[in-house]
Amino acid sequence: MIATTKPTASLPPTVPGMPIVGSAFQFVSHNSVSVDFLQQAQREYGDLVQFKAMKRSFCLVSDPELIREVLLERAQEFVKPEAVFQDTRGLARFLGHGILTAGYDEWRPQRKLIQPLMQHGQIAHYAETMTAMGDKLVAGWQPGEQRNIHADMTQVTMWIIAEAIFGIAVERSAQFEQIVNDAQKIIVDDLASPAPAWLTKRDQKAAQINAQLTDLVNQFVAERRTTGTAGRSDLLSVLMEARDADGVGLSDELLRDNILTMFFAGHETTANTLTWAFYFLSQNPAVLQALEHELDTVLTDGRLPTVEDLPNLPYTLMVIKETLRIQPTVAMLVRVATQDTTLGGYALKQGTFVLISPYVLHHDERRWSQPEVYDPARFDPETGVKLDKYGYMPFGAGPRICIGNHFALMEAQLLLALIASRYRLYLAPGANVQPLHQVTTSPRSGLPMIVQRRD
Ligand code: HEM
Repeated sequence: MIATTKPTASLPPTVPGMPIVGSAFQFVSHNSVSVDFLQQAQREYGDLVQFKAMKRSFCLVSDPELIREVLLERAQEFVKPEAVFQDTRGLARFLGHGILTAGYDEWRPQRKLIQPLMQHGQIAHYAETMTAMGDKLVAGWQPGEQRNIHADMTQVTMWIIAEAIFGIAVERSAQFEQIVNDAQKIIVDDLASPAPAWLTKRDQKAAQINAQLTDLVNQFVAERRTTGTAGRSDLLSVLMEARDADGVGLSDELLRDNILTMFFAGHETTANTLTWAFYFLSQNPAVLQALEHELDTVLTDGRLPTVEDLPNLPYTLMVIKETLRIQPTVAMLVRVATQDTTLGGYALKQGTFVLISPYVLHHDERRWSQPEVYDPARFDPETGVKLDKYGYMPFGAGPRICIGNHFALMEAQLLLALIASRYRLYLAPGANVQPLHQVTTSPRSGLPMIVQRRD
């Protein structure tokens, strides 16, 4: 049943914290959300636990049934934080009212417009771009050299999103990278930094970055207006052509917001997934061997993988899914309660941040045997675990589920197949790999690896 406000409901179990700061320094430490803190809170206090950080209330929800309520059944009541805080902080500073950050009413028509472009049947034609870019990346590798694989994966996925979705020339996408990185730091500080925005000049910096982003996007749009959109199926062209029932197109502002949204959301997550896959493969020789066996059987003569190969590379996909389990690149989803309400029988105040952590869910011993063990066999379609979509959710769930999930899985499967069929990657001696959980989860100091040719 959909819950309504019950004045008598008690407060959720609460993690004790310090006066004023609450559990802020446990929740976020060294610029990273502490998944250990979240995990411990769930273990000690249960599937609905509250804590305070800098006077804000947070409520971690780890019960799949309640998560279903928050993300699906009561999605209009538990909204994206950006919809509440308007454009003043977080992702919405940069992505405005685009599909990732818009409130429900603004979001719906945009999702309807973009969704068909990202469905299974519509994205197969990106496969060639994906492998061409992967090929271009490894062509620059010298056997035996040490490389930062995180930087490489960021580069290749950025080339892909730029080229496949927007038709932006590869050479020019690098400009975006720096600006996007600067923007990301501000987004994280908005959520995590105890220092107020005015003290750190965040608002000023954000305004500068926004102006740069708008300039770049305007250039791309102007170029496309000159060259024309006819016969093009990339997202930029389609969004420029889109008209609603009254013949009204997207405003320049929404066009900008959605282009940036797809750019922000569409590369770093996949880059980090591939980065972690190479890390875990380097630590699990038996898994690497099984993967190489599959690749050697299917991709004979060192040819590039194609979209037709994908069904014949099930283990490659299992490696990606297990990577997304053990190190989900979006470790935490955030919603805000729009009114005083109840959840799971407990009272929640309006403005409470409701947290759902794929990391906590994916490491829950009640659902996964030996969750700290990296084992792609869990995802064997015949013998593996039965998946609960609110218990395994690297792409989120409900109406705001990742719109790029098919694109991302195809991209990750193709790039992993291409790279691992040609190269074996060893962790560099002395490398200290620590996850940094911000908007996405990356290795804090990159991922130094030695790349050796396999033939
Ligand atoms: C492995 C790679 C990826 C992961 C793990 C991932 C994860 C997620 C998650 C967890 C959400 C939901 C956030 C929430 O509910 O608060 C999301 C939303 C979204 N993702 Fe992804 N994503 C990936 C790749 C992509 C790609 C490749 C694209 C675009 C090409 C993309 C575009 C989006 C967009 C636009 C949304 C917002 C959808 C909406 O609110 O309607 N993502 N993603």
